[in-house]
Amino acid sequence: MSPTPHRWLRRTDPAAAPRLEYGADYNPEQWPRSTWDDDVAAMRAAGVTVVSLAIFSWALLEPAEGEHDFGWLDEVMDMLHAGGIAVDLATATASPPPWLTAKHPEILPVDRHGATVWPGGRQHWRPTSPVFRAHALRLVRTMAGRYREHPALTAWHISNELGCHNVYDYSEDAAAAFRVWLRARYGDLAALNAAWGTAFWSQHYGDWQQILPPRQAATHPNPTQQLDFKRFSSDALKDYLRAERAVLRELTPDVPATTNFMVMGDQKAMDYADWAAEIDFVSNDHYVRRGPRALDELSFSANLTGHLAGGRPWFLMEHSTGAVNWQPVNVAKKPGELARDSLTHVAHGADAVCFFQWRQSAAGAEKYHSAMLPHAGRDTEVFRSVVALGDTLRRLAPVSGTARRPARAAIVFDWTSWWASEQDSHPTDRLRYRQEALDWYSAFLDLGVRADVVPVAADLSGYDLVVAPVLHVVPAALADRLRAYAHGGGHLVTTYFSGIVDEHDHVWLDGYPGPLRELLGIRVEEFAPLPDDERAELDNGLTGTLWTDRLTVTGADVEVLASYSDGGPAITRRPAGAGSAAYVSTRLGPDGLAPVLGELLVRAGIGSELPVALRGRVELAVRGDFWFLINRTAGPVELAGLDGEPLHGSAALLEPGGVAVLRRPE
Ligand code: GLA
Ligand code: GLA
Repeated sequence: MSPTPHRWLRRTDPAAAPRLEYGADYNPEQWPRSTWDDDVAAMRAAGVTVVSLAIFSWALLEPAEGEHDFGWLDEVMDMLHAGGIAVDLATATASPPPWLTAKHPEILPVDRHGATVWPGGRQHWRPTSPVFRAHALRLVRTMAGRYREHPALTAWHISNELGCHNVYDYSEDAAAAFRVWLRARYGDLAALNAAWGTAFWSQHYGDWQQILPPRQAATHPNPTQQLDFKRFSSDALKDYLRAERAVLRELTPDVPATTNFMVMGDQKAMDYADWAAEIDFVSNDHYVRRGPRALDELSFSANLTGHLAGGRPWFLMEHSTGAVNWQPVNVAKKPGELARDSLTHVAHGADAVCFFQWRQSAAGAEKYHSAMLPHAGRDTEVFRSVVALGDTLRRLAPVSGTARRPARAAIVFDWTSWWASEQDSHPTDRLRYRQEALDWYSAFLDLGVRADVVPVAADLSGYDLVVAPVLHVVPAALADRLRAYAHGGGHLVTTYFSGIVDEHDHVWLDGYPGPLRELLGIRVEEFAPLPDDERAELDNGLTGTLWTDRLTVTGADVEVLASYSDGGPAITRRPAGAGSAAYVSTRLGPDGLAPVLGELLVRAGIGSELPVALRGRVELAVRGDFWFLINRTAGPVELAGLDGEPLHGSAALLEPGGVAVLRRPE
C-alpha cells in the first residue's frame, strides 16, 4: 500500500489558528440571486467555515460547447470570500450537460443487458469514455485556470462520489479498456486462460478481442472474469480521478485536491485502500442507515476512513442533519443525534464536519432531503442544532490536527475479499462480508475495547491482536505475512470462508483453509452452510447461524474453545511462535462474539481502558490527548472514574446521545 500523502486545506492566512472546518455542499444556482446574501449571513450565524461549490454546475457553467458563463460563480466565490467562508471548489464534472449527451450519446454507460443508461439523473457517463474525458478535462482546465488565484479557493473537489451510479459499465469503451487492463495484468493470453480457469465450460480465449466484460450470460459468468472486472472497474475510476488531478496539479500545485469517498453501508465497488494515495487528503460521505446497530456502523465507517487516511485527519464531506430522500422510509433524526453523529466522526479523526446540503432544495429529486437550512427556515430545531454544533466545533478547535491514538487490536478490511466472498455460485448467497466485520467491531464496542479498522495491506506488527473476518482471498504472500505476524507475537483471529482462494479465485487444495491450515492447526473437509431456519448449537451455550465447517484438528497443541452438538470443533486456538492463531467457524453475531472475543483478548493480555461501569455503554475513541466518550445507550450514563478536563460536555454525566471530550494528557 502506498503511503497516504497528507496536505490539508489551503488557508488565506497560513498563520491562522487551526480549527475544525464546518459547512456543506452549497448549490446557489438553484436559488434566485436575492437568496445568496441571506445564505452567507446565515452561514456566518452558524459558524460555517467552508462550502463545496459547483458540484453539479456543468450545464450552467458551459451552457453550450465551448461557451462559458462564469459570472454567477465569480460572484458567489467573491461573496463567500467576503463573508470569510472558504470554498472547496468542485471541478463540476459530476453530471454531464444535455448538449454533451445529445451530441455524444456514446458517453452514456451501458448496463450488463446492453441497455443504455440515459440522461435525466446524474453521473451518466462511462468511466472509460475518451470523449467524456476530453470534454471533462477541458472543463477542469478552464475551472483551474479561472479560479487558481481566487483567495476563497481552499481545495479542489474532484468530480463527486466517483462510482456512485456508474461504476459498472459494460459498453464497448469498457470492453476495450478492460482488454488493455488485462494485457497489463497477465502479459499473454496463456496466463489469462490459466488465471481465469477457461478450461471450464469451453471458455478458452484465442484472441484478446474475444474477451468481453461479464455481460448478462446464460448462466453464471466466469468468477475470475467477474473479480477482474471488479478490480478493473475500481481502477478505471481511479484512473479518471488521476486524470483530473493531473490537470489540477499542473495548474494549481499549491492547492490540495480531494474526492469524496463513500465508506458506508453496502458501497463496495471502489477499493478506497487503493485510492487513498491519489488524493491530498481523504474525504468521506456517510449516511446512517436505520437499524439496531446503526451507530456501530457509523463508528466503523469513520474508523476505517481514519485508517485510509493513515491515522491523520480527514474531511467529512457529507452527512445529513436529518432525513435523506433515498431510503424506503426516510426518518428524521431525533434531537441530539445531529451533534452525536458529527462528533463520532470527529472522534475518529475528522477535522471537518460537512453536510449535504446547505439550503434544502425546493425542486428536484432531493427536495425532501434534509439540509442545514430547512424548508421551514431559520426558526427551526434543525437550524438551532446547526448553530449549536458550530459553537461546539469552535470549542473543539484544539483537537484539530491531532492523530488517532492507535488501539492495541485491529480488524482487517479487504475489498478483494469483500468482492470475491459475495460472488455467485458459492456455498451460500447469504454471506455478507462487511456485516461479519461489523459484528466483530460491535463485539469490541460491547466489551469497551478500542479496535482500529485497517486495510489489509496495513502494517499489522504494532497490534497485539488482529481479527481478519472472512479473509476469503489469501494469496501466498498474505499467508506469509499472517504467519510472520503470529510467529512474531501477534494474536491472529480468523473465521469461516477465510483463506479459501488465491488472487485468481482458485481454491487452495488439500483441505481448507489451504495457506492458513498449518498456522491454525485445523483442516476443513467440507463446508456446511446453514439454511435460514437452522441454527448450530455450541457447547458453550452460543448459537451459530449462516455457516458451519466440517472441521478436524490437526495440531497437537490446538485447543478447542467450543464444539458443535455433534462434537465437531467450532472454535479453535493454538499457540503459534510467540503468538497464537484462532478460528471461528460459524456466524455468532455481535452478542455471541462478545464472550468469544472477550476470552481471546484476555489471552492476548488486552484489557479495556474504560472503568468497568462504562464498558459497552460508552464508546471510547482517542485523538492525541483527547478522549471522546460517546453514549451508546438510550439513557444517561454517569462518567464516574474518569478524570480529565472537559473540552465539551461534562466529565460527570453523559446525557442520552451525549458526547464528552476530555483532555487527559498521558
Ligand atoms: C450523495 C451525493 C449528494 C447527495 C447526497 C444525498 O452523497 O454526493 O450530492 O445526492 O448523496 O444523500
Ligand atoms: C447441470 C449441468 C452440469 C452441472 C450441474 C451442476 O446438470 O449439466 O454441467 O452444471 O448442472 O449442478
